[in-house]
Amino acid sequence: MTDSSWHTACALNALEDKQAAEFTLDDTPGFVIAHKGELRAYVNRCPHLGIELNWMPGRFLDAEQCFIQCATHGALFSLDKGLCIAGPCQGEALQQLDTRIDQDQILVRFPE
Ligand code: FES
Repeated sequence: MTDSSWHTACALNALEDKQAAEFTLDDTPGFVIAHKGELRAYVNRCPHLGIELNWMPGRFLDAEQCFIQCATHGALFSLDKGLCIAGPCQGEALQQLDTRIDQDQILVRFPE
C-alpha cells in the first residue's frame, strides 16, 4: 500500500549521524538530519525571516554540531524538536515533517 503524500527525501545509507540531506516537498525546501539513530526532518525556513537556514548545500549545524544554526543571524535550533533556543526567533520552532523508512529510502510528508 502506498500513501501518495509521502515523498522520497534520500537514500537511508546516504546519511550518517549529524549529516543532513536536502529535498523539495511540494515546492517547499526541506532537510532531513540523522541524530542519535533517529531521523528528523524540517521545512528549510527560518522562523525569523522565512528564508532558508543554510548557506551551503547540506550544511545545517553549528560548529560544535550540537544545534541546527541559521546562517543569516545565527539562531540555534534543537536537533530533536527544532525549537529555537537562542537568536532573534527564540521560542519559535522549525516546522517539523513526518519521516519513515521504506525499502532503504527516507520518506517525508507534511504532518496530517
Ligand atoms: S533569518 Fe534566521 S536568524 Fe534571522
